[in-house]
Amino acid sequence: FSSFRVVLMPGDGIGPEVANSVVDIFDAAQVPISWVHADLINKSAKPGEDPFNRDTLCQIREHKIGLKGPTGTPIGGGHVSLNVHLRRELDLYANVRPCKTVPGVRTVYENVDLVTIRENTEGEYSGKEHEVIPGVIENLKIVSERACLRIARYAFDYCEKYGRSKVHAFHKASVMKMGDGLFLKKVREIAKLHPKVPYFEKNMDTGCGILVSNPSNFDVMVMPNLYGDIVSDVCAGLIGGLGLTPSANIGEEHAIFEAVHGSAPDIAGKNLANPTALLFSSIMMLKHLNLLEHAEKIEKAIHSVLVEGTVRTGDLGGRSKTTEYTKAIIDKIKG
Ligand code: NAD
Ligand code: IPM
Ligand code: MN
Repeated sequence: FSSFRVVLMPGDGIGPEVANSVVDIFDAAQVPISWVHADLINKSAKPGEDPFNRDTLCQIREHKIGLKGPTGTPIGGGHVSLNVHLRRELDLYANVRPCKTVPGVRTVYENVDLVTIRENTEGEYSGKEHEVIPGVIENLKIVSERACLRIARYAFDYCEKYGRSKVHAFHKASVMKMGDGLFLKKVREIAKLHPKVPYFEKNMDTGCGILVSNPSNFDVMVMPNLYGDIVSDVCAGLIGGLGLTPSANIGEEHAIFEAVHGSAPDIAGKNLANPTALLFSSIMMLKHLNLLEHAEKIEKAIHSVLVEGTVRTGDLGGRSKTTEYTKAIIDKIKG
């Protein structure tokens, strides 16, 4: 019987706790996946040396698919962000971040259903910055025609493929006339090729304001890297928080699935984390691998535990531990 090999990178903080939950639930659901255990960080690297684990990169190149927990990134100094590095190194140009109301989780909005499609390789995340003269930093925001075109294409194709209703481009071309201006120009070019897809534009700030007051105004939202980072956390807030929102980093050849949230150092190691966001990411991965029955089985089990409502983690107002919640899902799967 054939089985997929997936590189599992548990990461830092709550990463191993939520990754364990996925592994146990996949076992219970008899998902035909065997894990290749790996670490993104090279733990033996000394300061100044490459912190990136090259073997892990080789494994992802070989097996094509990865599931990753969050990696902590030092603020201000220290090594480069391993996330940014990984996305660029594998050219995972589309970061897809769906955000849909979860059955059983009540928030002020009903039926939120949004998808942030974030350019994932450049913009402010170019990592190109230097001190021009003492006290003045130049931090380059790179915007290339190629990257704008391919993320725009991805967004419109996604909208059509999944039968979604419209595409918004978020931008700040009023200020960044050239950079965001180029982004907008390329999205418009692609929009013209998709005349059946209603297309709109919003200034980034205005868009965020409307998003938190009237999320049903939006559906697919395509935007440059940093804006997508911010908007996807804002979206998470609309449906019950970061414990629930998944993502996929997609390239031509490789795909890495991870939660939108970070390593949550405030609750790490305490068995308090909500594994749902990584579970939903792993369900996106199963759908990507066309393991639809397994995806559905796990999704249904999660929904029924949340709808019953007695077992849930602290971020959703419950008192259950990560492992108790995981067990409740496993019990549903095993029926
Ligand atoms: P964070 O997302 O880790 O945490 C923000 C808040 O949300 C915290 O209060 C945390 O407890 C809570 N939270 C997050 N995930 C949760 C979950 N699954 N269950 C319950 N509560 C959850 O954001 P941060 O504190 O700004 O970042 C911490 C570290 O994570 C930083 O080093 C950051 O760079 C890194 N980070 C990594 C990724 C990634 O690897 N993809 C993503 C975001 C942040
Ligand atoms: C995310 C994270 C990363 C980002 C950080 C950790 C580099 O916040 O995946 O949303 O900014 O993209
Ligand atoms: Mn983020």
